Amino acid sequence: MKKILLPIAVAAISLFSCAPDKSKVVEELPTHQDAKESGPEANQADVTKGIGAIKEVKLTHPLDQERVTRGTAIYEMKCQACHKLDDQRLVGPGWKDVTKRRQPEWIMNMILNVDVMLDKDEEAQKLLELCLTRMPNQNVSIGDARDILEFMRKNDGEK
Ligand code: HEC
Repeated sequence: MKKILLPIAVAAISLFSCAPDKSKVVEELPTHQDAKESGPEANQADVTKGIGAIKEVKLTHPLDQERVTRGTAIYEMKCQACHKLDDQRLVGPGWKDVTKRRQPEWIMNMILNVDVMLDKDEEAQKLLELCLTRMPNQNVSIGDARDILEFMRKNDGEK
């Protein structure tokens, strides 16, 4: 009996830990050094946060308008060809409500570490099955990715 119950208990605990915990979202963006130090466990999939250097993203309220402006410009230059802002798929999924479907860390890891995400992250792989095109690495910096995230939040109606 114990042998059967244990995995269920573990699954239940990890389910709970997937819920966004606001009290944990306090750290600043990791620096490049953090990325290097994150070691082998950086390769381990975390369903909500994705795989990569981004472990915690601190969201600001209200939105940071400078980031929104920069994010808009990057979107137009590097993402618009494949992503619409409504819910319609172009080459990749439309961005409407992406910030509600995904954790901010997952979104930034998807932008910054797309090759690994497509190889190892279940959620990213589901998208690949749907879109049948691998999103190419867009060579954006961590700061750029954070700006795009702010633009996505604006697109989802946040103020
Ligand atoms: C050549 C087309 C292409 C370009 C350019 C592109 N993407 Fe993508 N993107 C995709 C595809 C296709 C997917 C779905 C996953 C897959 O199949 O690789 C995707 C998925 C995503 C997702 C996950 C969406 C979701 O619904 O969860 C995010 C976030 C994303 N892209 C961000 C970006 C950003 C930011 C840029 C610009 C810096 C960008 N993409 C540029 C093709 C593209």
